[in-house]
Amino acid sequence: MEDESIYDSFGGEKTIAAIVHEFHHLLVTDEKLAHYFQDVNLNHLRIGQMTLLIIYLFGGPNRYHGKNMREIHKGLYISSEAYERAVTHFKKAMKKYNTPIRLMAKVEALLRGVKPHIVMK
Ligand code: HEM
Repeated sequence: MEDESIYDSFGGEKTIAAIVHEFHHLLVTDEKLAHYFQDVNLNHLRIGQMTLLIIYLFGGPNRYHGKNMREIHKGLYISSEAYERAVTHFKKAMKKYNTPIRLMAKVEALLRGVKPHIVMK
């Protein structure tokens, strides 16, 4: 099972979509992060895009055709602290859907990989 992707381990798309939905909910209701999202409309579309991106990031099919992470988050001035809070929320969302610890650790490492593209310099 060494080669099994994170995507396969999650059993496909449905669980990932639920996790991303929960993740997004935790982001926009976090009083320290909500201001990043206050001017952002069409949140339901964003959830869809984010789900496609996460599916790809986890080793599933690439159906994400949005902008790259650096471009999207450029100008948002996301601090390292805000990023860390977001990772905590992602872990909380995974826990809610009974993700095994081993898989959560893999995902956390992956999310940390994109940190330099998201946090402002
Ligand atoms: C943890 C890793 C993260 C990933 C994988 C990620 C992924 C994404 C994706 C795919 C979009 C595009 C949605 C679309 O095309 O409409 C997006 C948009 C956005 N993200 Fe992130 N994000 C992450 C972390 C964060 C953090 C930490 C914040 C702020 C605290 C943040 C704030 C935003 C905002 C405000 C938008 C909307 C930008 C706009 O359309 O004006 N993201 N993110």
